[in-house]
Amino acid sequence: MQTRLNDTSASKAVVILVAAGSGERLAAGVPKAFAPLCGESLLAHALRGIFGCAEVGHVIIVSPLSHVEHCRDVAGGTNGTDGGKPRVDVVTGGATRTASVQAGLRALLPDDAIVLVHDVARCLAPPELFARVIGAVRTGEAAVVPGLPVTDTVKVVNAEGRVVQTPDRESLYAIQTPQGFRREVLEHAHASGASATDDAALVERTGGQVRVVAGDPMAMKITVPVDMLMAAALLKDGLHVR
Ligand code: C5P
Repeated sequence: MQTRLNDTSASKAVVILVAAGSGERLAAGVPKAFAPLCGESLLAHALRGIFGCAEVGHVIIVSPLSHVEHCRDVAGGTNGTDGGKPRVDVVTGGATRTASVQAGLRALLPDDAIVLVHDVARCLAPPELFARVIGAVRTGEAAVVPGLPVTDTVKVVNAEGRVVQTPDRESLYAIQTPQGFRREVLEHAHASGASATDDAALVERTGGQVRVVAGDPMAMKITVPVDMLMAAALLKDGLHVR
């Protein structure tokens, strides 16, 4: 069943915030979502960015089993820039990112027509980025991803460590989250049972069109310890680099 354009053009969005990863590569001693960045957890930073977007009406935090109550506490203690707050639900994640997104999908409410999926690892994504992605879905796009042009030269390397291809850099974008979808498009993509490192890849594999909108350097991904240093610098001085 297709969601009619006027269903999504007026409705607020739901954000599935995947925060159930272990963060082994960060080695913070706690799951990544609860690692401290300038005195607050990545989860608190991520929620502030989401709560700051007035177009978000519902947030589903996908938590490690051990941290469900902790997620509720962090959500309760975090406010958006204007003090407003959407409905927040907390569910338990799965063994892979894809399984965690699917846990979030099972918690959607009947009226959730626009679904954003966001990694807690991109905890400094600003409210305007959420608004940009939601706006593109509202204008009729089925799937929307933020992206930044790649500045490195990227090579495809085989298992023996030999370069097999150098794709034309002009056509390469580094893709971020939040990624936005018409609900039925995302549900259809996940119904395939396949796994991927982002949700747009599942849409592509099921024949869907994915639109790229401008990404934001603040939406950098925190994966390894040095990323924490960069995120701390961005947090202190972010407006000057965007
Ligand atoms: O592992 P990776 O860095 O790709 O994780 C991306 C995002 O997916 C992170 O926000 C992480 O918390 C989340 N994730 C999850 N459940 C998993 C694995 C990752 O929610 N089992």
